[in-house]
Amino acid sequence: MTRIAAHFSAAVAVVLVAVASTTVDARQKVLLYSRTAGYRHPSIPNAIAALEKLGQEHSFDTVHTENQEKFESQDWLDQFDAVVFVSASGEALNSKGITNFRKYIENGGGYFGIHEATDCLSKTPWYARLVGALFNNHPFIQKFTVNVVDPTHPSATGLPEAWEVYDEAYNFLSNPSELDKTYVLTADQSTIKENDQSVSDLHQFEGKVHPIAWYKEGDLLTAPTKHIGGGVDNIKHIPKKQRGTGGDGRAYYTALGHTKACWTDDVFLGHILGAMQWVLASPSIKSNNDTLPSSAPGSSFIGLGASPSSSTSGSSAEASGGSYASAGSGTGSGSAANSVNSAGAHTGAVLGAAGSATTVSVSVMAALVCLSAVALTLSTSV
Ligand SMILES: *[C@@H]1O[C@H](CO)[C@@H](O)[C@H](O)[C@H]1NC(C)=O
Repeated sequence: MTRIAAHFSAAVAVVLVAVASTTVDARQKVLLYSRTAGYRHPSIPNAIAALEKLGQEHSFDTVHTENQEKFESQDWLDQFDAVVFVSASGEALNSKGITNFRKYIENGGGYFGIHEATDCLSKTPWYARLVGALFNNHPFIQKFTVNVVDPTHPSATGLPEAWEVYDEAYNFLSNPSELDKTYVLTADQSTIKENDQSVSDLHQFEGKVHPIAWYKEGDLLTAPTKHIGGGVDNIKHIPKKQRGTGGDGRAYYTALGHTKACWTDDVFLGHILGAMQWVLASPSIKSNNDTLPSSAPGSSFIGLGASPSSSTSGSSAEASGGSYASAGSGTGSGSAANSVNSAGAHTGAVLGAAGSATTVSVSVMAALVCLSAVALTLSTSV
């Protein structure tokens, strides 16, 4: 009897584990990367905490790392629907990581750069095209007015038309619109006191409107002859394969986010969440597009063991390190399921439906396996 009981609880445990991990897989997964090989923003922990909280409240999982070696596994990288550079700076990736990250973008992965992300990987031309421009300088932190020039974009729908911020108004070495970036936010130059260069000098680099936030969908890396400044334009010496091409996914960049205070400001967080959700709604990632091959970037909700890659172990390793923001470790699996089901965002709703369907079928399968195990136990032990 006790043996049977023990087997029975083991069987129940297997079912629970199956349900819990499938539920977590049903949520989209975002990598927060904040390695700093240059200046390190003191607000990085605040930004990470705020992004993790947004994930919990809006049904996406976050994995935070500053370990560049993680990028050396393509499988690990490909589990993410989007990669966010949270003020990552300097040469934040090694050459293997740079290659894998390029392939991730070329295969449709999403990208969201925040603040110092334009002051990162400046020796890598394809990255500069992805983010849209490289950092030039910034005047002292001050209050200035941001104009919403694309009010329909999800990253701007909650913003006042003229938005007063206290932040660093980054200037750039090139004009992002020449890479077909669409501006969402620009700075009202008349409200900024520049101190490194005259406004007319700055215009020569970044154009006559001062860009603050922009996006692009598709063809994220193409345009290898465009000048992006910073002495990285001459790519003739770069082997063709490493120059970067295509990229069907979505890329967003915002220059805002310097202070600790902004990461608890609801208006600012609405801007960040809108950008994140827009990137995550891309049809180029697996979580939104069933027709993509299993090798495509993005989380999969096909179920347990769909791809026996290191993706699951990669995220669990992060989870045990305490930086995995999902509520899915142990006690929290129930609430994870709840927040998926109650998700307001359209991607969340789609995921919620797909996720629960998968959960049911996996549970049934697991239950069948367990029943046969119990049957076997009964026949051998009696
Ligand atoms: C899914 O991906 C394929 C291949 O990239 C693409 O042709 C198709 O348009 C995508 N589906 C949707 C719904 O966008």
